[in-house]
Amino acid sequence: MALKLSVIGTGYLGATHAACMASLGFNVIGFDTEPEKVALLSQGKVPFYEPDLEELLIAQLKSKRLTFTNKVEDLADADVHFICVGTPQIKNGNAADLIYVNSALESIAKHVKPGGLVVGKSTVPVGTATKLRNRLLELNPKADLAWNPEFLREGFAVEDTLRPNRLVVGVVNDSAEKILKEVYATNLKENTPWVRADLPTAELVKVAANSFLATKISFINAMAEVCEASGGDVTVLAKAIGYDPRIGNRFLQAGIGFGGGCLPKDIRAFMARAEELGASQAVEFLKEIDAINLRARQRIIELVRKDLSDDLVGKKVAVLGAAFKPDSDDVRDSPALDISAQIQAAGAHVTVHDPKAISNAQKRFPGLNFSQDINSTLMDSEIVLHLTEWKIYRDIDPKQVKKVVKTAIMIDGRNALDRDLWRSAGWKFRALGRTTGE
Ligand code: UDX
Repeated sequence: MALKLSVIGTGYLGATHAACMASLGFNVIGFDTEPEKVALLSQGKVPFYEPDLEELLIAQLKSKRLTFTNKVEDLADADVHFICVGTPQIKNGNAADLIYVNSALESIAKHVKPGGLVVGKSTVPVGTATKLRNRLLELNPKADLAWNPEFLREGFAVEDTLRPNRLVVGVVNDSAEKILKEVYATNLKENTPWVRADLPTAELVKVAANSFLATKISFINAMAEVCEASGGDVTVLAKAIGYDPRIGNRFLQAGIGFGGGCLPKDIRAFMARAEELGASQAVEFLKEIDAINLRARQRIIELVRKDLSDDLVGKKVAVLGAAFKPDSDDVRDSPALDISAQIQAAGAHVTVHDPKAISNAQKRFPGLNFSQDINSTLMDSEIVLHLTEWKIYRDIDPKQVKKVVKTAIMIDGRNALDRDLWRSAGWKFRALGRTTGE
């Protein structure tokens, strides 16, 4: 008989995991403490934008393999319980807030069947899993706990969950690994690499991977700074170094840097945890990675100032993009919105366009102006900033929109637009890490 699964926490990670596991044939029950989320998901509505997820959710609800609840006792029937709750940055520091993870464990512990398994998927500071396992055994000696970090990217959450590039399982006992092999039997058949680790290593894999990715982005943004100082072109540089397979060409897109709900908070939580462990020197470089990342936001504001004679007061600025990256409506720590808010605070009138993230952006920055229409966003603007590389922005015809703006200056904060095309249409075109060439 197929295993029954529960998923605790139905945000990006949990909702996707629940729908994907149901699509693999498991009976899955998703749990969330927020009744509104449970109600929406039960009606086949995803409370955030994620390509392909809503279709999958609707199909799985129809199949009756997937249900949602806000009563933890409803999970008692499951053999495996996945903890997928958030671990945000604490308000007054860099560490991760473990309140949701701890309370998930406390509430599920007594409902786990004998021989049942709790599996953590949330990103946690190293050492958390062992503590949680000890607590679980105290409350329910016949249960076990494993750690199975998740590497899904927003915008590709379904694809990454169904076809992950590796599966990492931190276990203490062989029996836990056996259960997880049953859960991931489809992936194993498809030869997905399987890495068995101990609990601390499994936790560290996730933060190490995200630190590496953040480092790659900040590395290329540091090179962009050097290119700006020396007259080089970072896009050409990235292409050239990326041909070396040891370096690789992905995550070398220079621009306004990384944001979102993971990379920034994960590198900060890693530094905080390393300090507690007496290993702060080992990850001291992450401070610099964070600083380079935040500096990119200031560098683009400098470009704007230069083109507007250093005076932003009363200037009409159009911004394309609010989400922290394309194909997402997530605005957590979005560089695009941070930049927009700073320019607005300096006295400019900023109008922001985004195809999906406006409602989330409005909640966080009610002082900014938002528009659903590209043309009216650009109308009479004195400068245009391209800050999230949605495909629709690459499809804009620079000749057509030149008629709408007051001054044709484009600042490409993502190095994603075709510079020659914009220039030949009569635009002044600026980008981070590239000289103006004028
Ligand atoms: C990240 C990790 O990729 C994923 O494995 C982990 O599970 C969660 O954190 P995500 O936050 O969805 O995923 O976004 P990601 O695609 O990694 O992009 C993060 C940020 O880096 C975005 O703001 C993006 O615009 C920026 N970025 C990415 C760059 O600035 N340059 C690049 O070359 C790549």
